[in-house]
Amino acid sequence: MSDLNLFMPCAAGAETLLAEEVQRITAREAKAHRAGVTLQASWRDAMLLNLHSRLAQRVLIELTNAPYRGEVDLYSVATAVAWEDWFDVKRTFKVEITAQHSPLKSLNFAALKIKDAIADRFRDKRGERPSVDTQRPDIRIYAHLTAERVTLYADTSGEPLFKRGWREDKGEAPLKETLAAAMIAASGWQADTPLYDPCCGSGTIAIEAAQIACGIAPGSLRRFAFEKLLPFDAKPWQLLREEAKARHHAPTAPVFGSDVAFRMVDFARRNAERAGVAHAINLRGGDALQRMPPSDTPGVMLVNPPYGERIEAAGVAGRERAQAEGGGDFFAQLAAHWKAHYAGWNAWVLTPDMKLPSRMRLKESRRVPMWNGPIECRLFRFDMVKGSARKDAA
Ligand SMILES: C[S@@+](CC[C@H](N)C(=O)[O-])C[C@H]1O[C@@H](n2cnc3c(N)ncnc32)[C@H](O)[C@@H]1O
Repeated sequence: MSDLNLFMPCAAGAETLLAEEVQRITAREAKAHRAGVTLQASWRDAMLLNLHSRLAQRVLIELTNAPYRGEVDLYSVATAVAWEDWFDVKRTFKVEITAQHSPLKSLNFAALKIKDAIADRFRDKRGERPSVDTQRPDIRIYAHLTAERVTLYADTSGEPLFKRGWREDKGEAPLKETLAAAMIAASGWQADTPLYDPCCGSGTIAIEAAQIACGIAPGSLRRFAFEKLLPFDAKPWQLLREEAKARHHAPTAPVFGSDVAFRMVDFARRNAERAGVAHAINLRGGDALQRMPPSDTPGVMLVNPPYGERIEAAGVAGRERAQAEGGGDFFAQLAAHWKAHYAGWNAWVLTPDMKLPSRMRLKESRRVPMWNGPIECRLFRFDMVKGSARKDAA
């Protein structure tokens, strides 16, 4: 089990960051592709990556990659995989299928063929077949079809890795934990500098940052599908968990979050408790347009601000908008507030609005493409140097 081919999907835009993270966790070289990375690794690495990766959506083991032209080929390719080496006939399973430029008419039918092949192979080798469970399968098999090739993977993660196990209270538009982690990684924040999210909602960015500052592994609260795969051995896994736990420490950097909605701050507090970082985050209520810097030392602001009709800015900007149509643009006011009070801070703002810098009348010093699910966004960096960041009004 030392020569597995792993594929780790991630949000588009986070591939290079994920390759760097993989290198940090396993000391292995990963190759970035669109929306994921590949690497050669051991079974131990696969467990380590599930436990420690903040950016990957899941960790998949490639079982085969072969040419195909129709469903009959898919059946033969899937029959040739030694499924009985990977899971026991008592486990339930499900085949998930994705495709890019596949000539096949029905992906459902293609998935059915692969499912039949797995069941028939078990019947042939073990005399009985495992059952399918489409809701909560023990084992998930992923099939990916391109125009000419099919790849089959065994999923080692189960629930996607953004489900860390601490979020029960959600806000209106919570960020996925993996995307919050990608924002933190892209910002280059080091856990010796203050970090502040002034529109923290249910606290995702602050909680991810606080776990980093406390050395807490993102997967420490959850279970993984690899525990149900046959190569799994509980002892080395227990060791990896204990090693991870031994690395917990007091926070190395102060982390702050605030939100105009007190209900959100409550959610964030409860989430932080479950995530084991209540002691490491300072959460307050308050309007981002009025809150003063939470620390004397300038640090990094990371913001997933309210936007669009679903999540409008509340607080001062909201009241002004209600009073006078066109008055009180939240972002222009936020920029003015930051310029007046946040000299020395670097603010990173995630937004689908490509014109945000001109709305804020600020010139960005970095713009990083990032996808929030299907929504193309930019993570803009603004360096708050008093007065001098103002863009030429023209
Ligand atoms: C897109 S959501 C942030 C979601 C958050 N990243 C999470 O994962 O839950 C935007 C947040 O901005 C807050 N908000 C709106 N107007 C605000 C203001 N003037 N000051 C501070 N927060 C504000 C909303 O209450 C909402 O929680």
